Amino acid sequence: MKRINVGIIGLGTIGSGVIKILRERRRLILERSGVDVHLVKACDVRRAQADKIGLPSSLFTSNPQEIIKNDKIDVVVELIGGFHPAKELILQALKSGKHVVTANKALLASEICDILSVARRNKRQLKFEASVCGGIPIIKAIREGLVSNKVDSFLGIINGTSNYLLTKMAEDSLTFSEALSRAKKKGYAERNPRFDVEGIDAAHKLVILCYLLFSKLIPLDSVFKEGISDISHLDIRYAQEMGLVIKPLAIAKKVGDDLEARVHATLLPKDHMLAPVNGVFNAVLFRGDLVGDMLFYGRGAGQFPTASAVVSDLVDLGSDAQADSILKSSVKPRIRKVRRMDDIVSRYYLRFMAIDKPGILARIAGVLGKYRIGIAQVSQKERRRAKFVPVVMITHHALEKNLRNALEAIERLAIVKSKTIKIRMEDF
Ligand code: HSE
Repeated sequence: MKRINVGIIGLGTIGSGVIKILRERRRLILERSGVDVHLVKACDVRRAQADKIGLPSSLFTSNPQEIIKNDKIDVVVELIGGFHPAKELILQALKSGKHVVTANKALLASEICDILSVARRNKRQLKFEASVCGGIPIIKAIREGLVSNKVDSFLGIINGTSNYLLTKMAEDSLTFSEALSRAKKKGYAERNPRFDVEGIDAAHKLVILCYLLFSKLIPLDSVFKEGISDISHLDIRYAQEMGLVIKPLAIAKKVGDDLEARVHATLLPKDHMLAPVNGVFNAVLFRGDLVGDMLFYGRGAGQFPTASAVVSDLVDLGSDAQADSILKSSVKPRIRKVRRMDDIVSRYYLRFMAIDKPGILARIAGVLGKYRIGIAQVSQKERRRAKFVPVVMITHHALEKNLRNALEAIERLAIVKSKTIKIRMEDF
């Protein structure tokens, strides 16, 4: 039997979940893994958090230094989130000879290299399974199950809140703001949901996954992020009529030596593996050169799914097999740079609000043709008494820069009202 002594900093939702799991499943974990995960101390500035879960006073402290400087503790679990003091506490813990487990995706997305180099210098490990897709063991899958594969691309629904919003808009014909109010009521969206709906949370996770897959920490601001708040129910309905669904995707693709890294609402054929991933669920589809396509599906958030990932890291740290598996700094990056959005190639759904007069469609198609954009499908959705009618098109593959220029040229012609709706489409 191996014993691992743990100190937890942060008794919020996940921290409390970890403690509950350790309390109730310690024996099961020991029987399955041979590792006895033993909680030595838990810290929070709010004593009430400890009381809520009935933590004995002897196990509680409000001072994180009592964990970091405690010689009995082997692993510090950082679950306070944010940059400061989380980063300082993690570095201090590593320098004090402790392994670290964290779920802090925002911090890792910019600082993982620095933190790992401190871990390496101190011969300690940094583990972060809970930082991406909560309960889905996706980091373990990349580092262990897929270790001999070159995974050159993945598509992921890695933000549960935005998936819930688009699902509800589609299922219940809600507007974005109606869906958001419902998500807030159900606790699926923060009071300030900016990180989730603008793609920032998904970009953090995408950066971490790309680091593991391509051995390069790409800057967060090189990831293209487009929020989902402009998606309207009208487009969801038109897409459905064309056999398509709209999903909030994080996309990474190695193209030559470059990487496409983007987060945006994306159209998928309704028989695509990610199409039935609804509500708050997450899923990631990896394309490995040896295994082919692999889909991981599950809960990306919530107390127990996320705490379950933290506990799995603790068990790994306690078992011999993982004793010296530190991500190496010497691995050659598999990509050179992140491609600018102008240089990506995609198919597009376009919705023009066009004047309903003979010849207008031909003028739109003419401009698209001039910019080498082929049309695969077109329909004028309905004729209303209004002056402008929706004209929907699906293009063939086109260069984003050409599409941008074409739409600007069409908008200058004054035959369409307002900005054209553009949704990228994936067929991988
Ligand atoms: N806010 C995240 C989501 C959960 O909606 O997926 C934690 O990563």
